[in-house]
Amino acid sequence: MKPVIAICPGSYDPVTYGHLDLIERAARVFDRLIVAVLQNPEKAPLFPVSERAEMLREATRGWSNVEVDVFEGLLVDFVRRKGARVVVRGIRAVSDYEYELQMALMNRKMEPTVETVFMLPAETFSFLSSSLVREIVRLGGSVDGLVPPMVQTRLKARLR
Ligand code: PNS
Repeated sequence: MKPVIAICPGSYDPVTYGHLDLIERAARVFDRLIVAVLQNPEKAPLFPVSERAEMLREATRGWSNVEVDVFEGLLVDFVRRKGARVVVRGIRAVSDYEYELQMALMNRKMEPTVETVFMLPAETFSFLSSSLVREIVRLGGSVDGLVPPMVQTRLKARLR
């Protein structure tokens, strides 16, 4: 059987323990996992794509079948280029589902051979998002236990 390559796409601005929980779960299921960081020229992220990828590389160093890459343009084009068959997305709560369903079905319309697999992060992270982390740090709160220490350091350097 051919190894199954899965793509775990996202903005990762910045990576949180919720993302890492999902990446670890997906890495146990698929032979190879490519964490794909979106470079979106229309959005103004807090961290440039190179730094978002760097933080992810550092955080996923321990998992031998996980690699980090950057993509621009359509996700399905990146998936095809990588010879992958699966897109992994995390569903934290029912509220995520509608948007995720729409994206998955649109991706299927564009590339019917790619399967989207929804996985559930640990429920302890169901309230966690990169945007809340950015806001908390901006307002002087603690994000201990929500993002790795090296991410905290970079957040403080950027936001305080
Ligand atoms: O972490 P996010 O911001 O929820 O991730 C969203 C992401 C990167 C998965 C999505 O915006 C995406 O795939 N963008 C690439 C452009 C694309 O393919 N758009 C059509 C989606 S149906």
